[in-house]
Amino acid sequence: MLHRKDLLGLQETSVEEIQLILDTAEGMKQILSRPIPKVPTLRGKTVCTLFYEASTRTRTSFEGAAKALGADTMSLTVAASSVTKGETLKDTILTVSSLGPHAIVMRHKMSGSPHFAAKYTKAHVINAGDGCHEHPTQGLLDLFTVREKKGRVEGLQIAIIGDILHSRVARSDIWGYTKMGASVRLCGPSTLMPVEIEKTGVTVCRRIEEAIEGVDVVYMLRIQLERQQAGLFPSVLEYARLFGMNPKRLELAAPEAIVMHPGPINRGIEISAEMADSDRTVILDQVTNGLAVRMAVLYLLLGGGASPDEGTDET
Ligand code: CP
Repeated sequence: MLHRKDLLGLQETSVEEIQLILDTAEGMKQILSRPIPKVPTLRGKTVCTLFYEASTRTRTSFEGAAKALGADTMSLTVAASSVTKGETLKDTILTVSSLGPHAIVMRHKMSGSPHFAAKYTKAHVINAGDGCHEHPTQGLLDLFTVREKKGRVEGLQIAIIGDILHSRVARSDIWGYTKMGASVRLCGPSTLMPVEIEKTGVTVCRRIEEAIEGVDVVYMLRIQLERQQAGLFPSVLEYARLFGMNPKRLELAAPEAIVMHPGPINRGIEISAEMADSDRTVILDQVTNGLAVRMAVLYLLLGGGASPDEGTDET
């Protein structure tokens, strides 16, 4: 079990906890490969998803993960909720908590909002992305995917390319990859590179060729136009030319290097259509692994000691 109430970020998650989640996710992936991919481990528990920002992958995989473990789900669509009438985050959390969920999976545009929410509920709070801060389960599923494809994380060279400044995925990945012993290089427009990011143990490269030379993993980030002020790079075409990934550029990486992306992708901008559809690219494996990793997180926070494989589901 995880001996913590909430999962808010990988910065504060230990190597041992990350290892436990990844190992547990292996077992969850086996459960998902069965003819009936469901166990009753979390029967009687309720998981609430509370998303203040759009999501395809994270929300559906948390809901799928909860159901695969036998839990019930509640889903609050913020755009159709009393938030539109001015209800504050504190009052929304107090209200949702009164309905008795055992976990609240929360995404919000403000960094630190899940930390704030966690103070007002007894439910386990899982950060599903807070502003530009962290997206811990994305970091975990990325680690799981690298370990699955490469057999290890320790000792690998990993390049993260793009809009580092606005990327909560980049921050969780940097914490996750460096804690698990990989070397991380960053590259992107200088206007989209956080100051003093080297203090996290990464190397910043000016040119993409330098960043990807010989690496085992190329991790492309989405340009987050919705979080940017105007004028942080000259044009989308210029960005694609300087920082986009395509099969020709990938030749600079190690021969078996894989290409990752958290999704949603902007085809033709950070990744060419040919690269996105290539068998060197593992974007859909990342999505699939998100289900197993989120099952592991829910089980380790809510499971209360029962084996995930205890019994078979009869519903
Ligand atoms: N990677 C990710 O968080 O995707 P969604 O925004 O679709 O959840």
